[in-house]
Amino acid sequence: MQEPPRPCNKEAVIGENPYRVGVLGSGKGSNMVAIADACAARAIPARIAIVLSDVEQAGILGHARDRSLTAEFLHPGKFRTRLDEDAERAYIRRLQEAEVDLVVLAGFMRILKGEFLRAFPGKIINIHPSLLPAFPGLEAWKQALDYGVKVTGCTVHFVDEGVDRGPVIAQETVPVLPGDTPASLHERIQQAERRIYPQVVGALAQGKIVVKGRQAVWLREG
Ligand code: GRF
Repeated sequence: MQEPPRPCNKEAVIGENPYRVGVLGSGKGSNMVAIADACAARAIPARIAIVLSDVEQAGILGHARDRSLTAEFLHPGKFRTRLDEDAERAYIRRLQEAEVDLVVLAGFMRILKGEFLRAFPGKIINIHPSLLPAFPGLEAWKQALDYGVKVTGCTVHFVDEGVDRGPVIAQETVPVLPGDTPASLHERIQQAERRIYPQVVGALAQGKIVVKGRQAVWLREG
């Protein structure tokens, strides 16, 4: 059984030692904003300790700085789809220095491998814009539209060595409507993402999720 991420001490929610989240993103940052706003509103017992991006001009960094969060561009190195060894070490180091309890991938367009996964075992989550295992990979909303499914959605999952493959934590369905374009469908999926991602971070912060094999199990209250 995989160790669950460190649960938050409920007494520490408003205190000095909240559950610390590191966010990695390459894009506009709407998921990071949803999580940051939920933290700021104390809707979830967590705080964003650091935001890292492999894209210097990414919106996610601007949104983080607007919220006075630590936000840094870290060069990804020489590869296009993953971090090179030096970059991987730099990302790990900054996350460890920030003492994160959880690494949240929010539109980070690089595959994380070996050393990174070993540095944060069972503590990395991702959001994907389809109902996995359907439509892994890029532009999942477009894949769903092209395929002709009537329902798609989004998935929050733990990250393992596979691509879009780790244990599923939460999913929300989104209907495909007549006349949908890739953009309109993607927008509704992103609205669902902004609902479920903060909920999952909050549940992990409170130790409400454990992993048994492929099953991410939500523990009941009481
Ligand atoms: C989301 O649609 C997510 O599903 C995918 O990347 C996108 C990131 O969007 N992994 P944002 O940068 O959080 O707005």
